[in-house]
Amino acid sequence: MAYLVKQSHRAPAVTSPVPVDESLPRACVIGAGSSGIAAAKQLHLAGIPFDCFEQGRDIGGTWVLDNSNGQSACYDTLEINTSCPRMAFSDFPMPADYPPYARHDQVRAYFEQYVDHFGFRDTITFDTTVEDVSRSVDGRWDVRITGPDGTETRTYDAVLVANGHHWDPRWPEPAYPGTFDGEQIHAHDYRSADQLVGRDVVVVGAGNSAMDIAVESSSVARTTTWSVRRTEWVLRKFLLGKPSDQVALPGWLPWWVTAARLRIGATYAGSMTKYGLPAPTHKPGQSHPVQSDLIRERLDAGAVTARPGIEMLDGDRVVFVDGTSAPADLIVWATGYRVTFPFFKPELVSAQDNELPLWKRTVHPDLPGLYFIGLVQAIGAVMPIAEAQSAWIADTLAGRYAPPADDVVRRQMEAEHRRDKKQFYASPRHTMEVDFDHYLWDLDRERRAGRERAATRAPSPGAAPATTSGGGGVRRTLARLLLGAARWKAVGEVPRRGVLVGAPHTSNWDWVLTMLLAWRYGITVRLLVKKELFVGPLGWLLRRTGAVELDRTNPASTIKELLVEADGDDPWLIGIAAEGTRSRGDYWKSGFYRIARQTGLPITLAFLDVPSRTVGWGPTFQPTGDVGADMDVLRDFYADKTGFRPEGFTPPRLREEDRA
Ligand SMILES: Cc1cc2nc3c(=O)[nH]c(=O)nc-3n(C[C@H](O)[C@H](O)[C@H](O)COP(=O)(O)OP(=O)(O)OC[C@H]3O[C@@H](n4cnc5c(N)ncnc54)[C@H](O)[C@@H]3O)c2cc1C
Ligand SMILES: NC(=O)c1ccc[n+]([C@@H]2O[C@H](COP(=O)([O-])OP(=O)(O)OC[C@H]3O[C@@H](n4cnc5c(N)ncnc54)[C@H](OP(=O)(O)O)[C@@H]3O)[C@@H](O)[C@H]2O)c1
Repeated sequence: MAYLVKQSHRAPAVTSPVPVDESLPRACVIGAGSSGIAAAKQLHLAGIPFDCFEQGRDIGGTWVLDNSNGQSACYDTLEINTSCPRMAFSDFPMPADYPPYARHDQVRAYFEQYVDHFGFRDTITFDTTVEDVSRSVDGRWDVRITGPDGTETRTYDAVLVANGHHWDPRWPEPAYPGTFDGEQIHAHDYRSADQLVGRDVVVVGAGNSAMDIAVESSSVARTTTWSVRRTEWVLRKFLLGKPSDQVALPGWLPWWVTAARLRIGATYAGSMTKYGLPAPTHKPGQSHPVQSDLIRERLDAGAVTARPGIEMLDGDRVVFVDGTSAPADLIVWATGYRVTFPFFKPELVSAQDNELPLWKRTVHPDLPGLYFIGLVQAIGAVMPIAEAQSAWIADTLAGRYAPPADDVVRRQMEAEHRRDKKQFYASPRHTMEVDFDHYLWDLDRERRAGRERAATRAPSPGAAPATTSGGGGVRRTLARLLLGAARWKAVGEVPRRGVLVGAPHTSNWDWVLTMLLAWRYGITVRLLVKKELFVGPLGWLLRRTGAVELDRTNPASTIKELLVEADGDDPWLIGIAAEGTRSRGDYWKSGFYRIARQTGLPITLAFLDVPSRTVGWGPTFQPTGDVGADMDVLRDFYADKTGFRPEGFTPPRLREEDRA
């Protein structure tokens, strides 16, 4: 389901102390903005020992006007551009009397209430700056802090970095040629319209900051010129009377559906070309969304003049690339932010041009124990993402989650990074862009898979029993009910993840059953079949819901991936998909056998036997190289469980190296 927090989602207040389990890893959270408090709350409720350091005097980071940390970009008219139900933490709705888009002071108050509601204010140390984070000799993390009591270094097993990424202004690089006689500020230093009164203002940039400041300037400045080097699709905050971000879609839908939604929003909002700007060179959905209800009105009124990018600065004028110029005694550079971490040595962690690839935008694969919270630009709000990341990391620290093999992590990270680079136009503002609903869905899926992995391993000290959460629980229950109603029974030991060779394609029902079984038993199924079998709507649904994984562009690469992933303590099983056995005349194909020999992975049997309404797995064993004997084991099992003994099969053509 799409993410919308309702009043009924409010969790009970935490009124008594939560016991801390000192046997769990000790963590440090840097920052008490919305991301830091999301992290602190999850660690607190999980009983994980931790400290949270905040350099300012307040909770809320960006949302505190004139924050004593000197880092907030908040201005006095700022309101959120992600509506309250889409921005609230999942178990703590914003107050019912808030407007659809809350003001900054309301947002700040909401974060204050959150901390008190869940009872973790005393875990935050204010006025204390994290100055250095480095690896300790034993591979843990040394954190040097300076606060009212002086400077000290503490050692932690994990560090959750939540220092924000909208506080270090990005000025034009390189600077525009020419000289300028007036004042130049960055949008980060904009606080109120008082700074603009009676001036000739040029606002540079096409993001949300530029849009807001240009609109405000248009009411108080002598002239307002808005310089845009690349036209954006400017969306409206409301669509058919509803906050436009509430036309939200389930995260498992493909990206093009979100893009289509944004395209509808852009078409509804109207083009910017009539104001003299060129048409955008990208499609809606290929950039971070920009919203303004008022910019068109102010352009129509002639109170804002739109101009293209800057050619040069010329004393008391700014010259644009189309040869026009505008008077200026104040330039507001709304040119975005740099992602920086002053407490890391650059050789340890740095984000050149805002690039910092992370697994699920959270985990640094080379630096165990280091996690980044809220380091995303979202087509949607940051807070629920920070909350989900934090819950995931709390699971990890509490031993309830086990990651996949290191190579899988790196492969996924690279694939996601490649995908995102294709999805959004190249700009430092897009290096961390994610689709909100898809991200939440995907992370939930990974979290559940990791909980399953953890449940099959020896529990770590203090680990709580694994459970399935969120949409996964709903799917599991639905699948259990449907399979139960159809009186299907399962036999054999259920594997955690398996590869089906020559997988279900005999009828649509096979697809449905495969999906229900994957949901019911929490199995990750990877299919090793020809790609043309995956073009139908059910094949698509299977992939989107996470019931199966498949590299459509190159199924052959799956074998290589299996080899890579074979190392973990939760290896893939190679399964013969034995469904359709009876209808296809009593034989099994055995290409799987060869793949098992090539990859060294164990074989299992996965079957859907329609007449006996039996699904099953097992037995699982390492192929011996004696195909006939190995197939007999499987055949006997099948006969025992279903009453039907498949006789023939096509023996694989084993090469010498396969037999070895
Ligand atoms: C003008 C503006 C409007 C925005 N509007 C929206 C919106 O409507 N919806 C949305 O989802 N997002 C919005 N964003 C994005 C914004 O980044 C997030 O809303 C959110 O504030 C990010 O929270 P954070 O905790 O990650 O970072 P921050 O809010 O920046 O908080 C970081 C905290 O870490 C502390 N800190 C930093 N370094 C240290 C250190 N070394 N030691 C100790 N403490 C440290 C800081 O003092 C600060 O309190 C907006 C951003 C801007 C600039
Ligand atoms: N709640 C709100 O209403 C609100 C208000 C303000 C900001 N925000 C949020 O705050 C974050 C930052 O927004 P932002 O608008 O400050 O920054 P931004 O989204 O990074 O946008 C920066 C803009 O400046 C342009 N730019 C960068 N370098 C330039 C240069 N040298 N010359 C000319 N133009 C240049 C960029 O163009 P390119 O695209 O070509 O790089 C882009 O249009 C975003 O998440 C935004 O949503 C929210």
